[in-house]
Amino acid sequence: MALYDWKDDYSVGVARFDNHHKRLFDIANQLHEMMKLGKGADVIEPTLRELVDYTRYHLTEEEKVMESIGYSNIVSHKMAHKVFTDQLNEAMAEVDAGKTIFVVIKIAKTVIDWLINHIYVIDKKYLPEMSAAGIR
Ligand SMILES: [Fe+2]
Ligand SMILES: [Fe+2]
Repeated sequence: MALYDWKDDYSVGVARFDNHHKRLFDIANQLHEMMKLGKGADVIEPTLRELVDYTRYHLTEEEKVMESIGYSNIVSHKMAHKVFTDQLNEAMAEVDAGKTIFVVIKIAKTVIDWLINHIYVIDKKYLPEMSAAGIR
């Protein structure tokens, strides 16, 4: 059993975004597996980068759809994305400056925790409006 198991309870009611979120969970599990096996920073870093890149892509795609339906919570939702993206930029600069295993693991955990919490608390709020706008 993977550490970050997808549960139906995480569904945001939009298949495309559920698929994005599932992909993020998959990468998080790959990262966890590598950390468990004690892999070095050089092995883990490309997967961390993949998680970060896919996160950026996903946040942008979510914002485009929220904009297209005139989502009522868009300002605070985009702000949550921006605060996190700024943190990601800083974190990746830290990785670039010194790829120690400590830094890579710390950042991987921060990203995974943020994603799970964000999906469950913030993303799920758009479900009724997306559904009303016919986006599934
Ligand atoms: Fe999301
Ligand atoms: Fe989001």
